[in-house]
Amino acid sequence: MNIVPKPLSISVLEGETLFSNSTEIVSPIDVIVKELNFLDYERGDDNKAIFQLAPTEYDYEIVINGDIRVVARTNEGLFHGAMTLKQLIFDGYFEGVATIKNCHIKDRPRFEYRSFMLDIVRHFFDKNAILKLIDILSLVKINNLHLHISDNQGYRLESEVFPELNEKANTRRSTRGDGIPVGGYLSKADVKEIVDYAGERFVNVVPEIDLPGHTLFMLVARPETGCTGEQFDLAERYGIDNRILCAGNEENYEIIDKLLGEITEMFPSKYFHIGGDEVPKTQWQKCEKCRAVVEREGFDNYEQLQGYFTNRVINILKRYDKIPIVWNEALYSDMLDDSAVCQYWSDGRGARAVREALKNGRKMFVSKNFPCYLDYPHGINPLKRAYRFEPMSCFDGVGEENILGIESPLWTEWVADEDKLHHQAFPRAIAFAETGWTRKEDKCYKDFVERLYNVLGILEAYEVGYEHPTKANPNIFKAFGQAVKFLIDMLDLGDRKAVRNALDAQKGRKK
Ligand code: ACM
Ligand code: ZN
Repeated sequence: MNIVPKPLSISVLEGETLFSNSTEIVSPIDVIVKELNFLDYERGDDNKAIFQLAPTEYDYEIVINGDIRVVARTNEGLFHGAMTLKQLIFDGYFEGVATIKNCHIKDRPRFEYRSFMLDIVRHFFDKNAILKLIDILSLVKINNLHLHISDNQGYRLESEVFPELNEKANTRRSTRGDGIPVGGYLSKADVKEIVDYAGERFVNVVPEIDLPGHTLFMLVARPETGCTGEQFDLAERYGIDNRILCAGNEENYEIIDKLLGEITEMFPSKYFHIGGDEVPKTQWQKCEKCRAVVEREGFDNYEQLQGYFTNRVINILKRYDKIPIVWNEALYSDMLDDSAVCQYWSDGRGARAVREALKNGRKMFVSKNFPCYLDYPHGINPLKRAYRFEPMSCFDGVGEENILGIESPLWTEWVADEDKLHHQAFPRAIAFAETGWTRKEDKCYKDFVERLYNVLGILEAYEVGYEHPTKANPNIFKAFGQAVKFLIDMLDLGDRKAVRNALDAQKGRKK
């Protein structure tokens, strides 16, 4: 049966059941009725689709045998059952009636955290684009949408606490000299609509304010938050920037407190991402206020100053009752608060730090850039490799119980419109959805691609684009061309400062 992600078990029974206009849907949550009415139906058999809260050892069970009965302990489980049924309906749909093989499905997820990330800074994607994404994410049981909402190129939320973020840190005038302004932000009403729509579909929206690097947006809005106090413009290139928040300015912690206070009110998610990646320490080294903290605290290096900064932000978040998430560079200080979940993305020093942290019991999300990054072209991260990624293979069997889940991030430096977004995201994000849900021994690429066509049909019905599976696995010549072009763009070798900053971000910087 063409279901993605593949369920834990399916027993096929004798006969077939119709789903049609005359199927009465009985459910404690209205969203299920809305979701199943996604096609035009004609009259069929008078039967019922009953969604019922009841004890089961699974996330949900479905019995289809004349009537359709879905049971789960939670409304979330019922919703997952409805998404499975939605795929079966689409698969069996013909001229207004869906014919479904009778069966008994038992299902539960492998990982509790199944996530997709969208960067809405480098290019802005509005409320409607995000709602459409949520339709597809929830269809394949992804339960977290991580939104990257601040960076060197802008701040993408309405702020009443710091209106200067919207006035001064919204629109960059140009990108690498193209003269095309890029701006936009989500209003508080937009965020409420997104969060409510996602919540109804059991998707948490996790905001990320990347700290202390990637913060030129704040220095643009409030120059006093930087180490030099200079007035800057938003970045018009993408490379790593060394203009970051001053870690020695007490007032900055008050500003962060107010900003996070405002954002945590907008997003009910228990998780809050505070970034921590790619932090060049060169400005801190030269800054009297930063140096004073290093002296006062007896630190030997500036990695520890990042640890100090991050732990202060974590203490703020604890007051707001949020669980912090950090990128793997935040481990380098060796003093990161135990409460933070680490998101593993980078090789080399990142991989070593992550292995060590796992041994010591750190909770972890996996989004290894090879092959989880969806901004990378298919020539670098092809669909097949994306599908075959086994998160545990990164860790030599150490600390596996601490892997909470996986994420596929989509950075948008080179993704300027929704069509490109869809082609980068799909079907690779759907492959990761299966890895997040289905047991590894039940996964098979060939079988996945056969089942995938049904879901891709639903994407078409929702007017969501995707890369055709054959193009999503380009041959070696195409792959090479795509990889070279992408690396030249990404490394931005024309921007010597960014190259130097990237090297600096790799160093801890001794005192
Ligand atoms: C990252 O890709 N800089 C987390
Ligand atoms: Zn400073």
